[in-house]
Amino acid sequence: MQIYLDNAATTALDPEVIAVMVDTMKNDFGNPSSIHGHGRRVKTIVEKARKTIAQLLHASPAEIFFTSGGTEADNMAIVRSIADFGITHAITSPLEHHAVLHTLEALEKEEKFTLNIVSVDEKGDINYAHLEELLANNPRTFVSLMHANNELGNLTDVGRVSEICARYDAIFHSDTVQTMGHYPHDLSKLKIDFITGSAHKFHGPKGVGFLYINARNKIKPLIYGGAQERNMRGGTENVYGIVGMAKALEIAYRDMEEHHLYIQGLKDYMIARLREAIPEVRFNGQIEADRSLYTVLNVSLPCSDMNDMLLFNLDIAGISASGGSACSSGSDIGSHVLRAIDADNDRPSVRFSFCKNNTKEEIDTVVAKVKEICDKEEKISL
Ligand SMILES: Cc1ncc(COP(=O)(O)O)c(C=O)c1O
Repeated sequence: MQIYLDNAATTALDPEVIAVMVDTMKNDFGNPSSIHGHGRRVKTIVEKARKTIAQLLHASPAEIFFTSGGTEADNMAIVRSIADFGITHAITSPLEHHAVLHTLEALEKEEKFTLNIVSVDEKGDINYAHLEELLANNPRTFVSLMHANNELGNLTDVGRVSEICARYDAIFHSDTVQTMGHYPHDLSKLKIDFITGSAHKFHGPKGVGFLYINARNKIKPLIYGGAQERNMRGGTENVYGIVGMAKALEIAYRDMEEHHLYIQGLKDYMIARLREAIPEVRFNGQIEADRSLYTVLNVSLPCSDMNDMLLFNLDIAGISASGGSACSSGSDIGSHVLRAIDADNDRPSVRFSFCKNNTKEEIDTVVAKVKEICDKEEKISL
C-alpha cells in the first residue's frame, strides 16, 4: 500500500482540474498574444482564469500576475520592491522558505540594504514586539513574513503584522504559498502589498503560480521580454497551467469548510494516536488548531536513529513523508527551521502533511509503522 503524507511538498492533481486542462489542451492551443481568432480565444481563457482568482481573493484582476510558481512570485516581490521603492532596510524571520531567505540574503550580500531577522520563540512564533522595535528604529522597511510555515505549520497573524507595518509605512510581503486555498484570503480587508500562490500546493499543476500586487504598488518586471502580463512578466503564458490553477483554487474555495474540518480531524486523530502509541512523542511548532496550519504536523520522535534512516524505513513501507533534522554536521545540512527553534538534535523529526484524499485508516497504518520503527531501534540500542 502507498500512503502519501507529504502534501506540503506537493499535492495530487484534482480530477476536475485534469479535465479542464485536458479540454484546453485539446481545443485551445493558440498563443494568447496572437491577434487572430485562435489567439484571442486563449487570451479570453487566460483572463477568465485571472478574474476567477481575483474574485476569490477579493482583489482586482489587474492585481494578479501569473508566474512560474511560488519561488518566482516571492523573488519578484522581493527583488523589485528593494530596487523600486528605495528600500534600505528589510526584515524577515529565520523560518522563511528559501525562496524568501536566499533571495534576501543574496541581495544583502550585494549590499542593497541591511537585513534584520525578527526573533521567534521555541514554538516558532514571531516576536511581534521585536518586529515593532525593528520597524521603529529604521526608515522605509520591507517586511517579508510567511503566513504559514511549511515545516512546522505555525500560522503568523498576518492581520496583526499588516497593522504594524501600516503604522510604520513599511512594505509588507507575505509568502502565502502554504495557506492559499486552505484559508480564505480577503484582500479587500487586509492591508498587504504582496502575497503569493503556487498551484501545486492546492491540487493544481506544477510550474504555475501568481503574485498579488496591491494596485498602489508600481514595480518593474523581474523577467523582461514580451508584453505579456501587461508588460510585467515576459514569456508566453503557461496557459494549461493557468487554467488548471484557477480551477484548483475555485474547488479549494468551494469545498474549503468541509475540507478544513475533515483534514483538521485527521491531524487531531494522528496527534492522539501518536500520543497513545509513543508516549514520549513531541511536536515541533504549534499544534493548537487556531495557531497551526491544519495540513501540517511536525513530529519529534524518541528514536535513536538518524532522520534519513527513519524516512528511508517509512519509504520502504510505502509511506511518503518528509523531514529535516536540526543537525548541521557533515553532508546533512539539516533544517534551518528546526535549528531556528532549537529543536532537539538527538531526536529525528518527520513532517506529515495531509490533504482531502487521506484517511484515518492511513493514519493508523502510519502510526503503527512509526511505533514499530521506534521500538525496533530501542531494542537494537539496548
Ligand atoms: C512556503 C513556501 N514558499 C514558496 C515555495 C515555492 O513554491 P514553488 O514550488 O511553486 O516554487 C514553497 C514550496 O515548497 C513553500 O512551501
